[in-house]
Amino acid sequence: MNAIIIQQPGGPDVLQLQQQPRPRPAAHEVLIRVQAAGVNRPDVLMRQGKYAGSGEVAGLVPGLEVAGTIEQCGTDVTRWRPGDAVCALLPAGGYAEYVVVDARHCLPVPAGCSMVEAAALPETVFTVWHNVFQRGALRPGETLLVHGGSSGIGTTAIQLATALGSRVAITAGDAAKCTACRELGAEWAINYKEEDFEAVLKPTGVDVVLDMIGGEYTAKNLRLLNDDGRLVFINAMQGAAAEFNALDVMRRRLTITGSTLRPRSADFKAALAAAVQQHVWPLVATAAFRPVIHRTFPLAEAAAAHQLMESSAHIGKIVLEVAAAR
Ligand SMILES: NC(=O)c1ccc[n+]([C@@H]2O[C@H](COP(=O)([O-])OP(=O)(O)OC[C@H]3O[C@@H](n4cnc5c(N)ncnc54)[C@H](OP(=O)(O)O)[C@@H]3O)[C@@H](O)[C@H]2O)c1
Repeated sequence: MNAIIIQQPGGPDVLQLQQQPRPRPAAHEVLIRVQAAGVNRPDVLMRQGKYAGSGEVAGLVPGLEVAGTIEQCGTDVTRWRPGDAVCALLPAGGYAEYVVVDARHCLPVPAGCSMVEAAALPETVFTVWHNVFQRGALRPGETLLVHGGSSGIGTTAIQLATALGSRVAITAGDAAKCTACRELGAEWAINYKEEDFEAVLKPTGVDVVLDMIGGEYTAKNLRLLNDDGRLVFINAMQGAAAEFNALDVMRRRLTITGSTLRPRSADFKAALAAAVQQHVWPLVATAAFRPVIHRTFPLAEAAAAHQLMESSAHIGKIVLEVAAAR
């Protein structure tokens, strides 16, 4: 099969199309014939050799999510049959014509979703559901602040939070991104290059912050939180270390938490898949939530897809289209 391999840690050009043996499913796995593969910022970090816990990346096939059809089921798999249309969360391996995955990490392609849209769902939806709604415990009527509002993660968080009755504020790096986020339901869209988000949001305060920035944002995020507020980290692109006032954390009973999805156990991901199907799939069915697709590329142009992601010019998701040769 054709697959994109990371030749060695480095720039986008280390992503090369190569022939690989088609994987075989273990008893608890399914083999998926991939039709589309989502591109995520962690893929870029993995390619650079900077993704915590990814180990040696040379020879690895990146890709944390796909959509396609089940080609073959392992001997213990009863839930799926060959021909079923699924999307799946993967530890790696999505940039390929075929991939094997734990059968419990697959979900049906939601009605009305294309394969490209379905491939854009698992990594961002699992991450947002766990961090905003499970760890952050966002409730209807509360206010969520999302940094990187125009990212794949951000566009998902805005839609899910508003669909479930919360108010949303976002930060983004230009006016077009702010407009797109407002159209998705954000009530406040702050261009952080022109305005101080802390000053804008101080009068209202927020209950949950989903943060991928870290660094000097940390103290500002904590100052913005209402009593019993929650700060949830999913990355720290501007620095992991931060200074903040611990007395303030005590006085206002703030919670600081965070998580990374990829290293979690197979059982955890299976439970999260079930929660996502229960709570998020109905929102996809009514079109209250749809992934925002910025652009697709053919599998062979994965390097160009990474270049676009690193430019941060995109709004929403970038997806690879994979035409499997049978
Ligand atoms: N913890 C987890 O389990 C988990 C899972 C998936 C993703 N993530 C993280 O979530 C974030 C979003 O992922 P994604 O795939 O949705 O990424 P993405 O679409 O590439 O979005 C990243 C956005 O962050 C903004 N940004 C702000 N400061 C930045 C900086 N210093 N460097 C680069 N970008 C910066 C950029 O927009 P503007 O600057 O214009 O606002 C950019 O569009 C990433 O940091 C990713 O690593 C975490």
